[in-house]
Amino acid sequence: MGLAMQDYREFIDEILVDENTIGKRVAELGAQISNDYQGQILLVVCLLRGGLMFTADLTRHLTIPHSLDCMSLSSYGMGHYSSSGNVRVNLDLMTNIEGLNVLLVEDIVDSGRTLAHVLQMLKTREPRSLKVCVLLDKKYRREVPVDVDYVGFDVPDKYVFGYGIDIDEHFRNLRFIASADMQKYKKSS
Ligand code: IMP
Ligand code: MG
Repeated sequence: MGLAMQDYREFIDEILVDENTIGKRVAELGAQISNDYQGQILLVVCLLRGGLMFTADLTRHLTIPHSLDCMSLSSYGMGHYSSSGNVRVNLDLMTNIEGLNVLLVEDIVDSGRTLAHVLQMLKTREPRSLKVCVLLDKKYRREVPVDVDYVGFDVPDKYVFGYGIDIDEHFRNLRFIASADMQKYKKSS
């Protein structure tokens, strides 16, 4: 594939969430989180790289004091376009989270394996509280139960991209969230 990426218009299936709708929902979540953590100090943890755009926008709607840290995970051992739940930590937190209110911000929950793994790992560090905010939820795909406290949008069982979420590391900069026709994508790449 190399550097010559396709134009997304060649394989887009449909726009699932447009820019305006994302903006409104992210503002609502920011208000809700600010309200729920009233009087408390929060550590927002961005799960790189998919959670990048969402975290940047969400935190700018927070009206409570908070700090920010990042983690990078990758799952290995299965298909290229699905997660296996064998999670490797590429970049760990800089912050000692013991006694802190931690809010994990993730792009998508699918099988639930990635989040289940990271939650289990972070719980051993004894945070005061640990909650999860996901942009997108593929509810019907869940294989492992995970408590997700805040959800942006439910999405169907399709490969999605845009607004931080990639296909082969590209298209994260798109301002909307779309589904991809992976047959078309594979065919022409
Ligand atoms: P889970 O471990 O099965 O819940 O998968 C969650 C992870 O898989 C997310 O962090 C995403 O990185 C990735 N993922 C799941 N579905 C999609 C998708 O449709 N597009 C891009 N990444 C996805
Ligand atoms: Mg991810």
